[in-house]
Amino acid sequence: MVKQKIIVEGGRRLQGEIPVQGAKNSLLPLLAATALCKGKTVLHNCPRLTDADAAFRILDCLGCKCSRESSVLTVDAEQVCDNQVPDDLMQEMRSSIVFLGAILGRCGSCRWSTPGGCELGPRPINYHTDSLKKMGVVIEEDGGFMNCTTPKGIHGAKISLPFPSVGATENIILAAVTAKGATEIHNAAKEPEVVDLTDFLNKCGAKISGAGGSTIVIEGVKELRASEHTVIPDRIVTATYMCCAAITRGELVLTNTKHDDLSAVFPIFEKIGCSVYTYGSDKIYINARKSLVSPGKVTTHVHPGFPTDSQPLLMALTAVLPGTTIFEENIFSCRYNHAGELNRLGAKIDVRERIAVVEGVKRLSGANVKAPDLRGGAALVVAGLACEGVTKISRISHIDRGYEAIEDVLRSVGASIKRV
Ligand code: EPZ
Repeated sequence: MVKQKIIVEGGRRLQGEIPVQGAKNSLLPLLAATALCKGKTVLHNCPRLTDADAAFRILDCLGCKCSRESSVLTVDAEQVCDNQVPDDLMQEMRSSIVFLGAILGRCGSCRWSTPGGCELGPRPINYHTDSLKKMGVVIEEDGGFMNCTTPKGIHGAKISLPFPSVGATENIILAAVTAKGATEIHNAAKEPEVVDLTDFLNKCGAKISGAGGSTIVIEGVKELRASEHTVIPDRIVTATYMCCAAITRGELVLTNTKHDDLSAVFPIFEKIGCSVYTYGSDKIYINARKSLVSPGKVTTHVHPGFPTDSQPLLMALTAVLPGTTIFEENIFSCRYNHAGELNRLGAKIDVRERIAVVEGVKRLSGANVKAPDLRGGAALVVAGLACEGVTKISRISHIDRGYEAIEDVLRSVGASIKRV
């Protein structure tokens, strides 16, 4: 495969309007959910992402017929004739793990291997497997693969998650919708993407209540029928473009956003000194023309706290804000891989385990850097917009997993950025 790079020439003030793409972290579990629904599911607002392509290939292997027309995806899951996710697809993206619950729900058995994904420290899947075992799933290891069977069918269970894991909550829901009896998830993840998944499943005939709170109850139904659904706007991509506006002292209107999902993000931008207004049902205006300062301390938490996925992006912005910003990362044990790359651009970031201390510098200078993971890669794009000179970012396949044509979007509002 040809190795592509993103090249950014910094120093341009961004101005204009950006329609925000649909959420990757909603789309992937939704695509897994389509495997449970007999008939043709139609999903709107689906961004072109390499992770979505991988999910399509998994559905294809299961026997579903998938097609795309612009941002509309259709999945015909009338026939599901295989229960195996090939190893290369499991390695390609971490969220392939949510196919486990869906395949078990549809086929009663599944063969898979441990998933890959971003390098954010150890990413165990014990909450997924322990919960599924409580629902009657038998898991046996076989030469690097896991064979899952359900000798007595899947049944409802009371599950208390040790941590409100997004992926485990989604997997349990997918396995539970067509299980025998009711499942209760205590300490469930409250993220908007979990709510989007349950909204879709309820349209297909599922009986799920409580999503968005810490207890979710799923009454098993006999079967699900395909339906039509629009993927929610991507709150992390929204925050990314807000960081791009702020770091260039620009002015942007972001459309197709969901204000409620950004309640922990807006106050940080206001603290920094940006003017942020929401209007209409889906628009955000951000103006960063006044002098900006560090927001002080930023702590990541599960929803509705400040999202871990926005931490790298905000770190890029704070690298050039006067004052000291202290980040405390509470979700992943190793989510500062971007700090070293930002330092190559002239940032002053000191990482000590879960804490990163950013001393704002007057200017960053362009250099050759490598995207360490998805959001870390996007953080380098944000920083590159403010660098003196040219920043060349390699390993951009990470960025393409979650951002649809990021260079075209930013060029449309005045950035000097291209892919070579
Ligand atoms: C989802 O990952 C997102 N991915 C991540 O976004 C996001 O950072 C994360 O949730 C937290 O919000 C998708 O939705 C596809 P978790 P997920 O299970 O589900 C530990 C991005 O940039 N844990 O909530 O994998 C785990 O190690 C990506 O778009 C266990 O110990 O996250 C972590 O410390 C990156 N055992 C914490 O829980 C388990 O079985 C939260 O993980 C599962 C998780």
